[in-house]
Amino acid sequence: MFSSTISRWTMLHFAAATALFLVAQVAMAAGAAYPVLPLSAPATLAVVHLLTVGWITLLMLGALHQFVPVITAQTGVAGISALVSLIAILAGLAGMEAGFLSLAGQLPLSVILALPLGGTLVLAGVIAGVIPLAKMLWQTRPLPFAARFVAVGLAFLFATIAAGLVMGLAFARPDWISWPEAFSRGLQLHLMAGLLGWFMLTAMGVSYRLLTMFTLAPEERGPLGTAVLGLSAGGLAATWLLSIAAAAGAPVAPALIAATASATVLGVALYFVDMVRLYRARRRNKLELNTGMARAALVAFALGVLLAVWMLVSGNDALVGPLAYLFVFGWLSGLGLSQLYKIVPFLTWLERYGSVLGKQPVPRVQDLVDEERDEPWFILYFGGVAAGTVFGLMGWQHLWRIAIISHLVASLLIARALWIARRGTTSQARPGRPVSGTPAAPPSLLAPNLVSSE
Ligand code: HEM
Repeated sequence: MFSSTISRWTMLHFAAATALFLVAQVAMAAGAAYPVLPLSAPATLAVVHLLTVGWITLLMLGALHQFVPVITAQTGVAGISALVSLIAILAGLAGMEAGFLSLAGQLPLSVILALPLGGTLVLAGVIAGVIPLAKMLWQTRPLPFAARFVAVGLAFLFATIAAGLVMGLAFARPDWISWPEAFSRGLQLHLMAGLLGWFMLTAMGVSYRLLTMFTLAPEERGPLGTAVLGLSAGGLAATWLLSIAAAAGAPVAPALIAATASATVLGVALYFVDMVRLYRARRRNKLELNTGMARAALVAFALGVLLAVWMLVSGNDALVGPLAYLFVFGWLSGLGLSQLYKIVPFLTWLERYGSVLGKQPVPRVQDLVDEERDEPWFILYFGGVAAGTVFGLMGWQHLWRIAIISHLVASLLIARALWIARRGTTSQARPGRPVSGTPAAPPSLLAPNLVSSE
């Protein structure tokens, strides 16, 4: 019944992304990258791209294959193009990794060509994945609120890869790139587009959609939501375009860039206000574990913004590493893990029970997981990241590595919980659990604007 609305390759994206997330954490804990090596060390760059391309980008693309049809109220999901995209991105990432490792001296220097070639394959994979999403977004004009963040985020993904490719080429064939500032201005544009444009805006849009759905809060965000979108997405797009114009030598007043950047920060601040408003207006009082833990990710995001503002005001560049760590592990990965904890059981439940829905009693989605068992792992995860950030700020590298080990262990246990949800029996089967009946409404992760079935 629901098979045509389940994105077939989303789960494979999630599995690959989670595996790469674990590998990246192992490398950090083992001292093969930052914080033991410098941030700019080639081995760190290799691990950074395992996290940014391998973990977060694959996680987001996998989720978007499922959610763009939902947030645009379109029928049908991406077909084989999603698999082609996944394979190309993974193969391209492998090339990029080889290129970075050749810079680190762990592979012959001639392998450096694999860096721009791998980046080109990543670009091809992203194009294959984004085309069906872009088509759906295009057919849904005017775009729904959450979809607007996603559309801008996807545009920034291409900007990120373009800037990355220029730098990759500058490493591999410096004679081809006549842009002496490729590694300074180019990196700035790459980071702004990747971390803020692609990751932050997309996560904001997806969080609006998922949190209103899971807490049963009003989806219509009114003038405050419009201000969040206009200031954060509009401000960031203007800042990026002005920065690229300045990098190309156009006379752009620094005050103008400062003004658009401040508008972006104001937009993000209003997002936090709106999130508090959303939680207050929710109709579901008892929060499930995924929504409760999303709050911890939002707190990490808010602290990250405060830390970033402090870094800019104080000019203390030493904060960059702990700040990036908090942003990637606390906000993006924390939000990702907590939402996987809902999405994986939900899609599994649909695959298993979708065909008998309404015909016979079925378990609840939440019966596929055991919140009591798994809550400590989420606490260990966020506790580890909080401790790691503090140790990083204090410059206590050994303790920071111990904190990384603790969130690596937590991630492993959360991955195990997802595996059990996928492969195991429902917790409903265990003694002492109430038996659930037939759900009253279709699942909201597939049918737009419907109340959740649990
Ligand atoms: C979603 C996509 C991507 C994101 C979010 C991303 C993010 C990042 C980040 C955070 C850094 C800084 C790392 C550090 O200083 O330790 C970085 C550096 C770099 N990225 Fe990417 N990246 C992405 C894709 C790519 C692609 C496709 C390429 C193409 C080859 C690429 C090439 C590079 C290069 C060459 C550097 C090093 C620049 C330097 O040190 O001067 N990136 N990237």
